Amino acid sequence: THVVGEACIGCKYTDCVALCPVECFHEGPNFLVINPDVCIDCGVCVAECPVEAIFDEKDLPEAQREYVELNLRLAQSWPLITGSKEPMPEADAWAEKSSKREYLVE
Ligand code: F3S
Repeated sequence: THVVGEACIGCKYTDCVALCPVECFHEGPNFLVINPDVCIDCGVCVAECPVEAIFDEKDLPEAQREYVELNLRLAQSWPLITGSKEPMPEADAWAEKSSKREYLVE
């Protein structure tokens, strides 16, 4: 499966959603996740994300291991998002930040 990682927090550019051939993205207040049961591992979203937030699970940086569980769990409770939309208002500023995990709003 593919996994949305930390870089998405506060950004939600949603370019990933527009290209996805299935409906695997779910939207939270300041982050998106991929439903691993629906993702077909095509990988088109990886190159599409301007902040390189998405990884094939096998390429996920060790420091972001927790995001496997977060994607799995939050996809069950957050609503489906099926098209792209405006990024978050401060997306470009958030794109510059690192260590954003503590700001993830569930
Ligand atoms: Fe997030 Fe990147 Fe998609 S910022 S919403 S994973 S295009």
